[in-house]
Amino acid sequence: SLDQHYEEKVRPCIDLIDSLRSLGVEKDLALPAIAVIGDQSSGKSSVLEALSGVALPRGSGIVTRCPLILKLKKVKRGQPWAGWLTYKHDKQCYRFDLTNPGEVGKAVADAQVAVAGRGEGISREMISLEIKSTEVPDLTLIDLPGIARVAVGNQPKDIGDQIKSMIREYISKQETISLVVVPANIDIATTEALKMANEVDPSGQRTLGVLTKPDLVDKGAEETVVNTVNNLIVSLKKGYMIVKCRGQQDINDNLTLEKAIQKEKAFFKDHPHFRTLMDNQKATIPCLAERLTKELVEHIAKSLPKLEEQIDKKLGQTAEKLKNLGDGVPQNQHQMTNFLIEKIKKFNNHLLEVIRAEEAVEEG
Ligand code: GDP
Ligand code: NA
Ligand code: MG
Repeated sequence: SLDQHYEEKVRPCIDLIDSLRSLGVEKDLALPAIAVIGDQSSGKSSVLEALSGVALPRGSGIVTRCPLILKLKKVKRGQPWAGWLTYKHDKQCYRFDLTNPGEVGKAVADAQVAVAGRGEGISREMISLEIKSTEVPDLTLIDLPGIARVAVGNQPKDIGDQIKSMIREYISKQETISLVVVPANIDIATTEALKMANEVDPSGQRTLGVLTKPDLVDKGAEETVVNTVNNLIVSLKKGYMIVKCRGQQDINDNLTLEKAIQKEKAFFKDHPHFRTLMDNQKATIPCLAERLTKELVEHIAKSLPKLEEQIDKKLGQTAEKLKNLGDGVPQNQHQMTNFLIEKIKKFNNHLLEVIRAEEAVEEG
């Protein structure tokens, strides 16, 4: 069953990477991740909200002011919702436990003030938000500040360049999949986010496009949108998906995230032009969630041999350094690294088996 598939194959794979990440391995090695990028107000937070089922801070201007890593873990039916938020600031670690989805928005907003200050400045320090729920997909996503074109108020004049440089740092890594969020009601060729993704990944191997706001597409422009999603306009190896999230009116009307998913389904099902995209598994948030989990797992499988190689190299360098210092290799570091290598090796073999088995099923 699908549940079993998740428990046995998907979850351990993502857990391995998350546990390496929390051991601080990321300082030395690049770990597989999905980074969400887009121009300001393109709908990034709305997509993340819809995927996670929790309301995130929103508003005009720069709302996301530092990288937010969102670790979503699907738990078995009957288990309670749980969430916690952690960040480091001035060499101190902070942790806040959350008991319901309603607490998330404020906790994230407060953490941003703590690391990036009041006002509209940005920071490179990462906030980590972990959510366990029966209703989330198994996914780890990184939300990044939106690309601003002009500085406003007392923002530094180079705010646009600062944000772009932070985004570039994430998406230029081979281990990162870029989820590029683009409104369906604007000319896709003019979006800064897609241009940036294209600069670091010209063939679009690691780039997945997500069109938002399909309900705001002008009459007569629908076929262009369908062609974009069908990868006929700006071609990406991974192609595109399209989703409809809560608009301002939905929020004013207190439409819940759950109801919004139902509304989205009805929207695509009844739409004379976009209906076909739903039939092709290219529309709706639940479809996007499934696709992203699949992409992430495949990406992790692909990255593991290189990760192992990097750890091996790191171990060699560390041992060499210690030898030069005239000391033996301390048990802890050595054992830790070997432990990681063993874990990854075993895991890699297991994954290859899983992938071969799945290919066999697909083929035949
Ligand atoms: P971000 O700046 O990229 O994080 O964008 P937000 O998620 O904050 O969205 C910007 C605005 O677009 C908000 O008012 C959202 O309610 C609205 N929005 C997002 N997705 C949709 C959609 O599919 N349809 C409509 N009509 N509005 C949307
Ligand atoms: Na916004
Ligand atoms: Mg946002």
